Amino acid sequence: MRKFTIPFPDDWHLHLRDGATMAAVLPHTARRFARAIVMPNLNPPVTTTAQALAYRERILAALPKGIRFTPLMTLYLTEETTPEEIVRARKSGHIHAVKFYPAGATTNSAAGVRNIGNCYAVLETMATEGLPLLIHGEVTDPQVDIFDREKIFLEEVLAPLLTRLPQLKVVLEHITTRDAVDFVNNAGTNLAATITPHHLAMNRNAMLAGGIRPHHYCLPVLKRENHRAALLEAATSGSGRFFLGSDSAPHSRYRKESSCGCAGIYSAHAAIELYAELFEQAGALDRLADFSSRFGAEFYGLPRNTGTITLIKEPWDVPQQYSLGSGGALVPLRAGTRIRWQVCHD
Ligand code: NCD
Ligand code: ZN
Repeated sequence: MRKFTIPFPDDWHLHLRDGATMAAVLPHTARRFARAIVMPNLNPPVTTTAQALAYRERILAALPKGIRFTPLMTLYLTEETTPEEIVRARKSGHIHAVKFYPAGATTNSAAGVRNIGNCYAVLETMATEGLPLLIHGEVTDPQVDIFDREKIFLEEVLAPLLTRLPQLKVVLEHITTRDAVDFVNNAGTNLAATITPHHLAMNRNAMLAGGIRPHHYCLPVLKRENHRAALLEAATSGSGRFFLGSDSAPHSRYRKESSCGCAGIYSAHAAIELYAELFEQAGALDRLADFSSRFGAEFYGLPRNTGTITLIKEPWDVPQQYSLGSGGALVPLRAGTRIRWQVCHD
């Protein structure tokens, strides 16, 4: 196939940041996706409906003229979040999920949750209101090896949570292990998962073999090849429990190329094209439309998009970096390499 058309896709996990960085990265997503679930891990975090609505206005104001894009807002769960805030969020019509960061698990997660047991009143209200919980599924115990943090989270945190709140809709975000794939496949239909292009494309050798590559460092960290293969199988399986979430996470070059580089991989410049390459390699290009444009909307209970997007097999070269406006720059995934597919705009 040289050209194909799919319903306009959605990105169910995206970091837009704020200010100049947001203005620099937002056009990449808005050209490719009709909607995106926008992560609330700003500094300070987006913990209230009022903050989420103000953030939404800033996103809409930063959109390039003539581009239609709907930001789907989220709240950042803390141990102080109240059931009333959840009701307010639902009523606003613009807040579509609540994000659970275990405190210390990742970028801007210090204000996250230490003990999810302290959040049950809020989680019960979310179950009643039909508001999904999005989970960064890693334990933070320093005793636990970083490559095992997702697997241990499934056993120690997620399984008891689902048993206690079977009606709560949960998305296990950016899964990285065969264990997570099996867990989702064996759980009830209220559990789904997003999968990033980088976890589908790379194993940990891409980060550590032949030199340390900070632009391939993200959380949860890349795993062994066996896990990558399981993710690719899940994404292309046709199961509605797995859908697109890029986790595109812009950080400036100097913060990544550092003696303590931060976590996050930027993929918004080519997100749908990268998934197209991966699905094509797996011989499953016909399954991309459901993964990118249907399953997520169905899980969130949102209508599917009406427009379409066309991808054409015309190679293009990814720049070495993109400007971040205020003097900084970021290094995108696949910088300086050729991508086989591009979005066709005629
Ligand atoms: C994300 C970020 O930079 O905000 N980083 C990452 O490595 N994925 C946070 C997150 O989603 O964990
Ligand atoms: Zn993320």
